[in-house]
Amino acid sequence: MYIVFEGIDGAGKSTQIRMLKEWLEANGFRVETLVEPTDSEVGKLIRKILEWPDAQTDDVQRILALLFAADRMLIMDKLEDESKIIISDRSFISSLAYQEPREWVEVLNKYAKKPDLLILLDLDVKKSVGRTSGKDTFENEKFLTGVKANYLKIAENYTHEIIDANNGVNKVSSDIKKAVAPYLGICPDCIQ
Ligand code: TMP
Repeated sequence: MYIVFEGIDGAGKSTQIRMLKEWLEANGFRVETLVEPTDSEVGKLIRKILEWPDAQTDDVQRILALLFAADRMLIMDKLEDESKIIISDRSFISSLAYQEPREWVEVLNKYAKKPDLLILLDLDVKKSVGRTSGKDTFENEKFLTGVKANYLKIAENYTHEIIDANNGVNKVSSDIKKAVAPYLGICPDCIQ
């Protein structure tokens, strides 16, 4: 099963993925986690570019769209392992939500693997800006308001669960477990 976590910056994806992984392993599942951008040379370049002062320009945004798609192709083989649950921190769905124009980004990501389950961590934009460093090009209120709206629309195209990420870490974690459990045949009473 390929589970993808998405959400605007600061939604708590990495903490929640760690907590879900620990819980699934305690329930006997084998789990592998992935992060996009990856730690490949392309991923490292992406992280550098995200901090460029001119990263907001159309040209740089297009470069980023191409690099995100290329970086993703580098981990395609890892997604084929059916012996494990694969949980990914971001996916091509981030590109659909953050990059444009949408039709072009869809073409670039034509071969990207579609998730079996999308967990969308839905966070207020003001909270997002408060939680992030503001260092990356996308961490500003106006931009993230558009991204959040994009996510809610895109989610409709996939099997998805929307989780309120404005709550405390433990409440969010328990909401995620309750949402994921039916897909994996875990008994709801086993969830704390
Ligand atoms: P991170 O904050 O989850 O580490 O991701 C880095 C930034 O990259 C974040 O602002 C979201 C952005 N991003 C895209 O714009 N498109 C993508 O396809 C991916 C994977 C990330």
